[in-house]
Amino acid sequence: MNASKPSATAAATAPEQSATTGRDSLSITDNRTGKKYEIPIKNDTIRAIDLRQIKANAEDFGLISYDPAFTNTASCSSRITYIDGDAGILRYRGYPIEELAEKSTFIETAYLILHGELPTRDQLSDWTYNVTHHTFIHESIKKFLDGFHYDAHPMGMLISTVAALSTFYPDAKDIFNPDSRRKQTYRLIGKMPTLSAFAYRHSLGMPFAYPDNDLTYSANFLNMLFRTTELKYRANPTLERALDVLFILHADHEQNCSSTAMRGVGSSHVDPYSAIAAATAALYGPLHGGANEAVLHMLLEIGSVSKVPDYIKSVKAGQHKLMGFGHRVYKNYDPRATIVKHIAYEVFDVMGRNPMIDIALECERIALQDDYFISRKLYPNVDFYTGLIYQSMGFPVTMFPVLFAIPRTAGWIAQWEEMLLDPEQKIARPRQVYLGAPKRSYAPIDDRG
Ligand code: ACO
Repeated sequence: MNASKPSATAAATAPEQSATTGRDSLSITDNRTGKKYEIPIKNDTIRAIDLRQIKANAEDFGLISYDPAFTNTASCSSRITYIDGDAGILRYRGYPIEELAEKSTFIETAYLILHGELPTRDQLSDWTYNVTHHTFIHESIKKFLDGFHYDAHPMGMLISTVAALSTFYPDAKDIFNPDSRRKQTYRLIGKMPTLSAFAYRHSLGMPFAYPDNDLTYSANFLNMLFRTTELKYRANPTLERALDVLFILHADHEQNCSSTAMRGVGSSHVDPYSAIAAATAALYGPLHGGANEAVLHMLLEIGSVSKVPDYIKSVKAGQHKLMGFGHRVYKNYDPRATIVKHIAYEVFDVMGRNPMIDIALECERIALQDDYFISRKLYPNVDFYTGLIYQSMGFPVTMFPVLFAIPRTAGWIAQWEEMLLDPEQKIARPRQVYLGAPKRSYAPIDDRG
């Protein structure tokens, strides 16, 4: 199975066991009863439901596994994205991220993620045409945007307006109809940049700039953001390509917090716009897609290279986190961060060097030599350098998570569709370990101590 490695230990010990005993199973002895159980191992995994047969007595509900934050639980099988966090490997549908970043475009990569294969020339042209011809949004959406304050966070505007799209496309409820899913996919990939750009223009009080079908996906987004009086917007090719590569790097990342939200909310069979709104909300948090925004605030707070050692000391003392460092899955350099660092210098060649890069480089230099970070395997993640690029390109800090949400839409839809078509999936409904009060009787208010 092309599943991402859960952890080095699990992956290393399971095949060894089967090699020595010849059996792909786990033997368990329940010391409460002395009973023995044989649990099958498949794809280096045991099924949590197989634990249920383990009971202390006949009335017992059976054993369940406890895994807050799903640190060692696979919630699905997937064929979309492979990560080996120890080796710093990321692949979409088997293709290394480095090759896609060098040779592909975002629109082609989105096709790959959604369809499983790279498109032929005809498939790519058809896909590009359909996405491009679904970039316009209903004029009423502009009225919603007008209701927001000028300083409303663009992520709040994006979450609300993408949710509102479900009211314009009631056909989206037909989630088991492949034609309907395809239509919503064109709409979502096409309209996310438009909603995002309109949110940005609203915050500036500028008139909305409409999509231009002659432009590439990334150039059109830049057009809707930055076009002023020119008749035809021409994107700087370096900036257009930089944005496109950043979109490729952010297109999917298997079962992260927002994809889990997409699958979990989608598992109730709600329409994809409502599920994407939930996924976008999950992305907004500073521990996830909001981290690039948090990194910029942190670099501003540090202020100068000479203050980095003191800041690192305060991180080690537990006063703050070093934002843009650490990852649940990567225990090595995030492969996306390496590519992002290169893009940063390309963008600086056009826009001028962002002075905060020196503060970031110093943070990285000190952290990578410090035992606190080494022992915890904390390396720069994708968000550490992206903020500096976005800032140099002229984006306000509040737009950073929006720039993440646009390409991640491809991954969210692919994860959602895979979940819907997986016969093993049901509505997501975890168990809990109840540790609260036992049964007691209601006390009238005058009798309460
Ligand atoms: N700075 C300082 N210490 C850290 C950091 C950090 N950025 N990240 C983790 N640690 C420490 C923790 O305090 C903990 O130390 P302890 O063992 O002494 O208690 C140890 O490293 C393990 O950290 P966890 O929080 O258990 O790791 P987890 O896998 O739960 O968290 C996360 C991963 C949320 C990404 C975390 O590293 C973090 O908060 N990083 C900063 C935010 C960030 O950059 N998020 C973006 C992630 S990438 C993305 O979503 C696109």
